[in-house]
Amino acid sequence: MGSCGDRAVGVRGLPDRAQHARRVRESRPRRHRRRERHRHGAAPPARGGGDAARIAGHTRWPARRARAEHRRRHHRRSRGRRRARDVRVPRGERDRERPHALGCAADRRARAHVRSRPVRCRGGPHGVEGARVIEIVGLTKSYGEHRAVDGLDLRIETGELTVLLGPSGAGKTTVLRCINRLIEPTSGRILVDGVDASTLDPVELRRSMGYVIQNVGLFPNMTIRENVAAVPRLLGWDKKRTAERVEEMLDAVGLDPARYGPKYPRQLSGGEAQRVGVARALAADPPVLLMDEPFGAVDPLTRERLQKLMRDLQRRLKKTVVFVTHDIDEAVLLADRIALMRDGRLEQHDTPEAMWRRPANEFVSRFFGENLGLRVIIRHCLADVRLKPLPDGAPDLPRIDAGVSLKEALAELVGRRARALVVVRDGSPVGLFDFDVLVESLAEESACDAR
Ligand SMILES: Nc1ncnc2c1ncn2[C@@H]1O[C@H](COP(=O)(O)OP(=O)(O)O)[C@@H](O)[C@H]1O
Ligand SMILES: [Mg+2]
Repeated sequence: MGSCGDRAVGVRGLPDRAQHARRVRESRPRRHRRRERHRHGAAPPARGGGDAARIAGHTRWPARRARAEHRRRHHRRSRGRRRARDVRVPRGERDRERPHALGCAADRRARAHVRSRPVRCRGGPHGVEGARVIEIVGLTKSYGEHRAVDGLDLRIETGELTVLLGPSGAGKTTVLRCINRLIEPTSGRILVDGVDASTLDPVELRRSMGYVIQNVGLFPNMTIRENVAAVPRLLGWDKKRTAERVEEMLDAVGLDPARYGPKYPRQLSGGEAQRVGVARALAADPPVLLMDEPFGAVDPLTRERLQKLMRDLQRRLKKTVVFVTHDIDEAVLLADRIALMRDGRLEQHDTPEAMWRRPANEFVSRFFGENLGLRVIIRHCLADVRLKPLPDGAPDLPRIDAGVSLKEALAELVGRRARALVVVRDGSPVGLFDFDVLVESLAEESACDAR
């Protein structure tokens, strides 16, 4: 029988030369053997990016690489077995035989495939290019006995920003990852513009859905410009169009392309990196955007700026956005509709206003607490509320644009320690904003509620 580390096999004896080679190999220090094993057989170091890398279209690359790796191991194993009939083989040796020839070729083929293959999304009314509405029908995802998502029905409307809200562990991320098929449901269906997502090519599906996650997952070895250009390049856009789009997207997220384009992700702050993440997700102009706690890891001030950026972008772009968060303020600020989840189930799906006025159950009222009314009100635009008339003459008060939210107006009022603000539209004063306006707006909303 062989010693520990050797395969226990029937030995018919090795030819002299082979015995000598084996002795030489075994006499090498262990660290050399480990280094060789890594060089020849081990999986390559991760290129960074995780899910985002897969989403950005590198999906095929690591998947094929994994398959190649599997084949390589399998190949080695079966050869090992064949040889095992005749010889005693120390464990490390098998890894060094004909080192990863199969893996290398497969890797090369996979990379060439990604580079050369023009990605054609299925167009037309049922193709992913035209996808806008996402319908989730009876979605269940189980992990063993535990149901992370439990019979979820949810319709996410065209051009709306739907927030998946709920406590940690409610199943929000699981739903998002089922939508872009990073994970497959246990049962139920997801329809993308009426087409069952399980019948679509997952890579094409993902490329039609921008994806932003916490800590972004930018490719660390690519510049910011290359990061943002990743999906357009995979989609076969020409250089000029890609370059223009990269500039446009960096501008849109408030980063100067000349300054930030050549930098690497490690040279950015958390907030800047998150902006790049948004720019990258939007670069190929996908009709759907999936965002999983995208601003969860940045400081409160940066977070507020990013939320504002997101709100303004969405007003312009009108994507179908599914935005996961557990932050009520963020949800109320951004959402056209909120889908409130608990334990994998949907508690209520409605506009923030409707949830405030007509909470579906005790859990919903408790989850939002006392302040939902105020939260809902302050997301309104100054232009939407009944302002006080202007006094005669030009009042000596700070001015504020009618396009800002009540939240910003309130912050300005408090910050400036002013008794009122003059609201200006297109350069002309249109009314006064003060605390009374806010209180009356709240009262009016409550009256609507009573009606
Ligand atoms: N890969 C997994 N294996 C086992 N359990 C998981 C896995 N992913 C998620 N879960 C469980 O499913 C539940 C929902 O997870 P998740 O969707 O991440 O929640 P949320 O995003 O709302 O915080 C949690 O209880 C979590 O522990
Ligand atoms: Mg989550």
